[in-house]
Amino acid sequence: MQYGKLSSWIWLSLLSLTSFHVSMQATELDPMISRKILPVYAVLENADLLNSSRCRTEIDEFRNAVDNQILWALRALDTSGVPSGGFVVGNNHWLGDQGGCKFFSENRTVFLSEKVRKNNSIYRNPNEEYSPFEFRFFIARARHNSTVQYHIEVEDEDLITLGLCLPASCSIGDVATMLDKVFRNETLFIGKLFNIHLKLIEVSDLVDDGQWLLSAEMICIIGVLLSLYATVIAATIYDVFLHRKRLIKKRGKLTFESTNGIELENIKKEKRETDNEEPAPRESEQLNRISKHLLCFSFLTNVKEIFKPEKGGNNLRVFYGLKTLTMVWIILGHVVFYAFHVASNNWLVFIQAESLHFQIIRNFTLSVDAFFFMSGYLLSYSFLKERRKYQGIPPIAKRMNEFFQKIVKRYIRLTPAYFVVILIAILNFTWHHHVSELLPVEHPNDKCSKYWWTNILYINNFYRWDELCLTWSWYLPNDMQFFVFGSFLLTLSITHYNIAVGIGIFTLLSSIGSLVYTGYTINYQPTLDGQYRTMSEIYIRPWCRIPPYLIGMATCHLLTKWNYKLHFSKKSLIVGWSLAILCNCSILFGLANRNISFGLSILYLALSRTCWALGIAWLVVACTTNNGGIVNKILSLDIFVPFSKLTYGAYLLNPVTILLAYSLNFYVLYINIVTFGIYSITMITCSFSASILLSATTEMPFISLLRLNISAPRRTNEVGSKN
Ligand SMILES: *[C@@H]1O[C@H](CO)[C@@H](O)[C@H](O)[C@H]1NC(C)=O
Ligand SMILES: *[C@@H]1O[C@H](CO)[C@@H](O)[C@H](O)[C@H]1NC(C)=O
Ligand SMILES: *[C@@H]1O[C@H](CO)[C@@H](O)[C@H](O)[C@H]1NC(C)=O
Ligand SMILES: *[C@@H]1O[C@H](CO)[C@@H](O)[C@H](O)[C@H]1NC(C)=O
Ligand SMILES: *[C@@H]1O[C@H](CO)[C@@H](O)[C@H](O)[C@H]1NC(C)=O
Ligand SMILES: *[C@@H]1O[C@H](CO)[C@@H](O)[C@H](O)[C@H]1NC(C)=O
Repeated sequence: MQYGKLSSWIWLSLLSLTSFHVSMQATELDPMISRKILPVYAVLENADLLNSSRCRTEIDEFRNAVDNQILWALRALDTSGVPSGGFVVGNNHWLGDQGGCKFFSENRTVFLSEKVRKNNSIYRNPNEEYSPFEFRFFIARARHNSTVQYHIEVEDEDLITLGLCLPASCSIGDVATMLDKVFRNETLFIGKLFNIHLKLIEVSDLVDDGQWLLSAEMICIIGVLLSLYATVIAATIYDVFLHRKRLIKKRGKLTFESTNGIELENIKKEKRETDNEEPAPRESEQLNRISKHLLCFSFLTNVKEIFKPEKGGNNLRVFYGLKTLTMVWIILGHVVFYAFHVASNNWLVFIQAESLHFQIIRNFTLSVDAFFFMSGYLLSYSFLKERRKYQGIPPIAKRMNEFFQKIVKRYIRLTPAYFVVILIAILNFTWHHHVSELLPVEHPNDKCSKYWWTNILYINNFYRWDELCLTWSWYLPNDMQFFVFGSFLLTLSITHYNIAVGIGIFTLLSSIGSLVYTGYTINYQPTLDGQYRTMSEIYIRPWCRIPPYLIGMATCHLLTKWNYKLHFSKKSLIVGWSLAILCNCSILFGLANRNISFGLSILYLALSRTCWALGIAWLVVACTTNNGGIVNKILSLDIFVPFSKLTYGAYLLNPVTILLAYSLNFYVLYINIVTFGIYSITMITCSFSASILLSATTEMPFISLLRLNISAPRRTNEVGSKN
C-alpha cells in the first residue's frame, strides 16, 4: 500500500470496522471490496455495457492489471477520486488528482541517481511503471440526497464532484454509461453508509481543445477586448515616442522664438503614422483633437494620474481612507463568501460564523451601506459645490439639461469598465467550465451571456438573485438609481426646498416601512439561510437599501449649511463618539446570538442599515469639522489616495480574482484562519493590482474623454476603430 492515499486508508479501516472482514494480504484483492470503496474500480467493472470498442478492451486490460496489482494500474487507480472524510460537514469533493493523472499518462518522472534508481527497482518493476496506453482525467458531477449532510439550502450543496483517471480512448458518453450504472446499482459503500442515492448530472473531460473560443460570442468578446487594448497600446506608444518628445522639443524651441513650420511638419508626419485619413482642411486643428483623444488612452499618463498625490480637498480627505478600508472589508467578506464551492468544511465555517469575532466577516455587507452613504454624500457635495458658483435660480430648461447631462456623464464614467469586466468574466468562466474541476455556484458564464444587458442598463437589481450576472454587481444598479433619484431631489431643492426635503424623509420612512412589511410577510429571520434566501426580496432591492444614501446626502447638506464649522465641547465629543461606536458595534456584533424573537429580528432588519449609516455620518461629521483627532489623521493618510481611486476597479474585479484563484485549485480548500489570512492578503493585493490595469486602460480613458467635452461616445469608437 505504498501508494495508498490517506483517504483510501480511512475507508479501508472503516470497512474493516464494519461488517466486512478484511485480510490484508497483499497478493489477494477482493473485487467486492474494491468496487465498494473505489468508484473507479466500480466503473471498470461495467465495461461490458460498452459496445465493442477500444475503450472497452483498454478498460478490461486496466482492470486486470489492477487485480494483479501491476504498478501502472495502481498508479492510475491512485489518481482517481475516492470519497474522502468530512462528508457530513459538506466535503462533496472526491476529486482525485488531475495533475497526477496527466503526468502519469505522459510517462513523466523524476530523474534520480543511479544508485537510488537501482534500489527502487528492487521493489518496482521498471517495465511495469508506465501504462501501455494513454489516460485522461474525467470529472463527473452527481447529486446526492443524503439526509446526514448538513445543509443551509444553498444551490449545489448536494453536488458531488468525482474525478476519474481512465483510458483516453473512452468517450464522455462511455464514462457516463458506466458511471450511471454504478450509481443506479448503488454499488458504493459510502452510499450505503450515509444513505446517499447518487444521480449523475454530467461528465466532462477537462480537455481544453480551444473549440469554445470559436463561437461567435467569444470572437465578439475577444474582438472588443483586443481593439480596446490595441488602442491603449497605440496611445501609449504615441505618447512615449511622439508626444513627449514633441513637448520637449517645443519647450526647447519656445526659448528660441519658434516658427511654426517645423512643428507643422512634425504633426503631419505623425498624422500619417497614426491614421491614414485623407488630409482635411484645418488639418492641424483636427489632428490636435484626434491626438488629444488618443492620448486619453495612454497607459503611462493614466497610471501616473492614479498615483498622483492629492493636495487640498480637505473636506473629502477622510473619504480616501474610508473608501479603501471599506473595500478591504468587502474583499475579506468575499474571500469567505465565494469559497463555498471549494471549501471542504462549509458546515464548520458556518459554526464558526456564530462566534463573536467572526461577526466582522459575517456582517461584511454593512460595508456596502458605508459605500451608499459615501455615494450620497459625494453627490450632494458636488452638486452644492457647483451651485455655489451660480447666483440666483437658473431657468428650468438649464436645470433639466444639467440633470440629464449628469446622468449621462455618470453612465459613461461607470459603464466601460463594468462592461469590460463582464466580458472578461464571460471569457474567464467559460474557460473554467472547460478546464476546472470546481465551478462557482453562480455560473457567471451562463448568467452573463443571458443577462449582461440588464447590467448595462442598470436594472439587474429587479431580477432574482439567482439570475444575476456577477452577483456582486447588484450594488451598481442601486447606486445608479439612487443617483438619479438623488439628483432629482437636489434639482428640485433649488426651487422647492421643503418639498424636496419632504420627499427625502418620506422615502426614508417608507423604505423602513417596506422593510418591516417584507420582513413580516416572509417571516424573516436573520439566520444564515434566512439571509441567503431573502437576497432577492430584501438584500438587492433598491427600496430596501436607500436609507444610507439619503442619510449621506443629508449629512453633506447639513455640513454645508454649517459651513463645516462645528464646535463641540469635549464632553459632547465624547458622548458623540461613544454613541456612534456603541451604535455601530451593537449592529455589527449584536446578532452573534441569532436566536432572537421575531419582533427583534424585524426591528434589526428595519433599522440596522439606517443606524449604521448614522454612525458613519457621525464619523464623517467629526472628521470634516476637525473633531476627528487621530481617526481623521489615519483616514486622511496620503497612502489611501491611490487606493481610493482604485476602489471601483477593485470592487468589480475582486470576486473574479477570488473565483479564479479558487477554481484553478486542483484540491479543495480547508478554510481556517491560516488559509483565510493567506487568501485575504493575496486577494487584496491582486484585486488592487488588477484594478490598476482596469482603471488605467478602461476607466480613466473614458473619464478623460468626458473631460474633453465629448457629447456622445461616438467619437471614442472612431478612435478605437482606427487602431
Ligand atoms: C451500444 O449499441 C446500442 C445498439 O446499437 C446502442 O443503443 C447503445 O446506445 C450503444 N451503447 C453505447 C455506450 O454506445
Ligand atoms: C540500497 O538498499 C540497500 C539495502 O536495501 C541499502 O543498504 C542501501 O543503503 C541503499 N542505498 C541507497 C542509496 O539508498
Ligand atoms: C509511455 O510508456 C509506455 C511503455 O513504456 C509506452 O507504450 C507509451 O507510448 C509511453 N507514452 C508516452 C506518452 O510516451
Ligand atoms: C433519495 O433518492 C432515492 C432514489 O431516488 C429515494 O428512494 C430516496 O427516498 C431519496 N431519499 C430522500 C431522503 O429523499
Ligand atoms: C448490481 O447489483 C446487483 C445486485 O445488487 C449485483 O448482483 C450486480 O453484480 C451489480 N452489478 C454491477 C455491475 O455491479
Ligand atoms: C467643456 O464645456 C464647458 C461648457 O459646455 C466649457 O465651459 C468648458 O471649458 C469645456 N471644457 C473643455 C476641457 O473643453
